[in-house]
Amino acid sequence: MEGSERGNTLAKFEESRWADSNFSQDYRDNSDRYLPFRDQFIQVAKLGYKNFISKKNAASILDLGCGDGLFIYELAKASPFLNATLVDASSEMLSVAKARLSNKENIDFIKASFQQISDSDPLNKKFDFIYSSLAIHHLSFSEKKRLYSYIFDHLSPGGYFFNYDVVLSPTTMLEEWHLSLWREWIKSHSTIEVPNKFLNIPSKYKSNPDNVPDTLESQIKVLRNLGFQNVDCVFKYGIFSLFVGSRSKEKDNNSIHSDTDSAALHPCR
Ligand SMILES: C[S@@+](CC[C@H](N)C(=O)[O-])C[C@H]1O[C@@H](n2cnc3c(N)ncnc32)[C@H](O)[C@@H]1O
Repeated sequence: MEGSERGNTLAKFEESRWADSNFSQDYRDNSDRYLPFRDQFIQVAKLGYKNFISKKNAASILDLGCGDGLFIYELAKASPFLNATLVDASSEMLSVAKARLSNKENIDFIKASFQQISDSDPLNKKFDFIYSSLAIHHLSFSEKKRLYSYIFDHLSPGGYFFNYDVVLSPTTMLEEWHLSLWREWIKSHSTIEVPNKFLNIPSKYKSNPDNVPDTLESQIKVLRNLGFQNVDCVFKYGIFSLFVGSRSKEKDNNSIHSDTDSAALHPCR
């Protein structure tokens, strides 16, 4: 079978740990202590928005699995006039996001699971920039494919999708190393007061059945097959990856660098 699959392909958000108030509170309180280079991942996504989208008047943005609204909050600091739609299946996360963004205009909050979004399209509009962080790995491979297809259909011409998420390492040997890189990062960011409190997070992540990551390669392949252009992984640390794709403009002058081209361009080869 290709990719991650569960017996029950339509995973119920209500059965996941994100529906548990203590679990989501703990994430909001502590995730900065154990998510490696989170600020940098967000910064690269913001720079992507600035480079590809921000010149457009009243650009519309969709954040899928917005959690407490951190990304749109950060993006709005640099781009105060954006129109954003934040989606999450957790009403608790959405109410924290609403409070955080309470002084911003043109922000919609929608309580829906990714499965509901793919099935019944409650949003029914197109977006210039679709972002998601640390959320899509909760879907099985077939659910991911449906959501990526939904995302492609809901990008405006020239629009970009940025996905910052955990991925499955391609081999067990690499996975062991990637998880040890994660532990190293946590260790080096521990404080004197709580020296080792979060060192078990990588093991907990591995044993939590809500996490069903797929490899970067398989997801990149899906994006390309759906018709996304400019597909690439633009930032990576171990299993943490930021990968992107765009929808072509009508008149796109966007040539692809084949391996031969890149060998010719690369000064080290
Ligand atoms: C790790 S948090 C990430 C939140 C935020 N994007 C961030 O980067 O901090 C995962 C989020 O995905 C949401 N989520 C998980 N499964 C979902 C699903 N099937 N449909 C919609 N949201 C889901 C959770 O409620 C949670 O807010």
